[in-house]
Amino acid sequence: MSGSLHDAFLDELRDAFDAEKQITRALPRVAKAASSPQLRAAFEQHIQETKAQVERLTRVFESLGEKPRGKHCDGMAGILEEAKSALEEETEDATMDALLIASAQRVEHYEMAAYGTLVAWAEAMGHDEAARLLRETLDEEKATDEKLTAIAEGGINRDAASSSTDDESEAEEAQAEPQGRSATGGRRATGTGASGRTVAAATTRGGGRSTSRSTTSRTSARGAKATGARKR
Ligand SMILES: [Fe+2]
Repeated sequence: MSGSLHDAFLDELRDAFDAEKQITRALPRVAKAASSPQLRAAFEQHIQETKAQVERLTRVFESLGEKPRGKHCDGMAGILEEAKSALEEETEDATMDALLIASAQRVEHYEMAAYGTLVAWAEAMGHDEAARLLRETLDEEKATDEKLTAIAEGGINRDAASSSTDDESEAEEAQAEPQGRSATGGRRATGTGASGRTVAAATTRGGGRSTSRSTTSRTSARGAKATGARKR
């Protein structure tokens, strides 16, 4: 049977089993980092769902007469490693929530791809019970993804965007004004500390448009700490 689709199927199942366990370990920290109560509740609900998905995979293995076991999922490890970097950003609350959603949706899409394949292969091989169980999980992952989109578009993205915009215009104002104006200077120092980095974090992903400008404002604001974060 070596090299058969059945073997590949078992291999993918073991990969998914390990991925779910990795997610179970990572999610509590993600939930804790969320500021929006709605987002936190969504993550907490998904912790419970993920635990049930591990159980469900156990039943899939049993339905095939196989022992449940995992095989290290490098893909999920990489996605979670990136999510960890997002958690270490110092940002406005809404921006952090937007970053958490972005990371969580990468996880969900990876899982949707994996379970979509598993369902299709189970159906093709006539593993009806396995296909049914795997489809339940696929539907949960899709629902989670959609819920995250709704939460992001229900206000978090807008709040994160307006906090970045405020910061950018404050930085521009501050640069345009003469140096001697201490009131504005003070505002600039507090305003651009978090914001400069917010802008840098957002734009680095999108192509780094304003990295140099935000670096300028950040350097004048909270130099050492911000630079440390940026180098990370
Ligand atoms: Fe999952």
